[in-house]
Amino acid sequence: MKASKLLFGLIISILTVGLLAACGNADDGKKLVMATSADYPPYEFIDTEKGEEIIGFDVDIAKYITNELGYELEIVDMDFTTLITAMNGGKADFILAGMTPTPERLENADFSDIYFTAKHLIVSKKDSGINTIDDLAGKKVGVQTGSIQEGKADEIAETVNITIESRNRVPELVQEILAGRFDAAIIEDTVAAGHFKNNPELVGFAIEDGESDAGSAIAFPKDSDLTEEFNRVLNEMKENGELDKLIVKWFGGEE
Ligand code: ARG
Repeated sequence: MKASKLLFGLIISILTVGLLAACGNADDGKKLVMATSADYPPYEFIDTEKGEEIIGFDVDIAKYITNELGYELEIVDMDFTTLITAMNGGKADFILAGMTPTPERLENADFSDIYFTAKHLIVSKKDSGINTIDDLAGKKVGVQTGSIQEGKADEIAETVNITIESRNRVPELVQEILAGRFDAAIIEDTVAAGHFKNNPELVGFAIEDGESDAGSAIAFPKDSDLTEEFNRVLNEMKENGELDKLIVKWFGGEE
């Protein structure tokens, strides 16, 4: 009886140690876990030619910074809307996901400086007759769940009668337009560009309202020491041309 209790205790301790080792991502000092939503080429997407690997602009930025700072990098993929909660739950040390610092997000995370700025596009089929925001009246408009594009749609809905539908992954928005279930979607220009290339029947125009820029920054848990470390390297990258190189590599440099 006693021996079996002892054995049981031993097994539990071994399991606990194993579990702690397996979860010890955030604090082991050598490895940093980046959370992202790999539905967003050219920022982050799965390289289908090579299998499962996540590649993109954000991934290259993360690789450069963690390498400079002497950390190993691990990347975990999840739905965009779950990123901040997952990070604050200890599942990641930082988020690189083309994420825009909004006042609401700043309540739950710290952000680096902005590393890239994009615009919002209204994307629809060529024959949709949607050329202005007012043309959206009576239409169904798709957005990614939890994105700032969702907020944009809410703003539009204040003056134009639209129905807003959200999906977790951006390619789903494109599929819904192609299938005729959505009339349009709000997608940022650089990401939409890839979908235009693959789907010549799609077009888009920018929302020009003076404040529709979507700057991307890296998110960290509140008061993380990493914010300052990352900002230092990020600003080095801006000065030494590394960031421009990556912009040309992933966005083609037309802008
Ligand atoms: N910039 C937008 C935002 O912060 C959309 C980012 C979506 N990112 C992604 N990896 N799906 O809400």
